[in-house]
Amino acid sequence: MGSLREKVALITGASSGIGAGTATHFASLGCYLALCGRNKENLEKTGKQCEANGLPKDKILLIQGDLSKEEDCKAAVEKTIKYFGRLDSLINNAGIALIGSIETTSLEQFDAIMNINVRSMFHITMLAIRPKCQTSIVKKRENKKIASPHHFCYENPVTTCDMRLQNCDLRPACLSNCDLRLPGALA
Ligand SMILES: NC(=O)c1ccc[n+]([C@@H]2O[C@H](COP(=O)([O-])OP(=O)(O)OC[C@H]3O[C@@H](n4cnc5c(N)ncnc54)[C@H](OP(=O)(O)O)[C@@H]3O)[C@@H](O)[C@H]2O)c1
Repeated sequence: MGSLREKVALITGASSGIGAGTATHFASLGCYLALCGRNKENLEKTGKQCEANGLPKDKILLIQGDLSKEEDCKAAVEKTIKYFGRLDSLINNAGIALIGSIETTSLEQFDAIMNINVRSMFHITMLAIRPKCQTSIVKKRENKKIASPHHFCYENPVTTCDMRLQNCDLRPACLSNCDLRLPGALA
């Protein structure tokens, strides 16, 4: 990805866990940040941690929103570009995990996970690559090759994300497509 200093990154799911950790690390590298999540209090906490890591307050934009809603995806990208005038990196981190096999997972749970982990990721990526032609896309990814039957609803969407991004050849859109590999369960 090169140096992140003075680049603009939009991090989804920045209000906790991996997204918050990514935000505070990027802050220490001098990257300007648009941070998105539903929980305002947690988002503010991440913002403060980024400030503590040396990023000036005016280089941190907090965007409260539910990315399973189309209008909130649009707002996240539009607000970022309006505030910073550009968008260099999109970190597609927002998501939910559900434990359950095909016998125990309801269709409602399946729809909820597909909506945030796949559809919204596809939508926000689509929106982000249009206004600027140099956005790097970072997607979360599993190292596992075979989906666990106990995470049926969670791991199948992850595989779908991979297939979808591989199938829509992003290179013509001038993207440097960058993988963030996660070594399986972290928490
Ligand atoms: N931890 C692991 O072992 C692991 C392994 C592989 C992959 N992952 C994936 O990596 C990502 C982060 O995991 P994590 O452990 O850091 O989980 P986490 O602490 O639960 O963080 C998930 C983040 O996604 C946000 N989010 C969820 N639904 C959203 C929605 N509808 N709109 C906007 N934001 C939403 C949450 O924010 P709000 O609640 O504020 O909305 C939160 O900031 C997830 O997508 C997860 O599936 C995790």
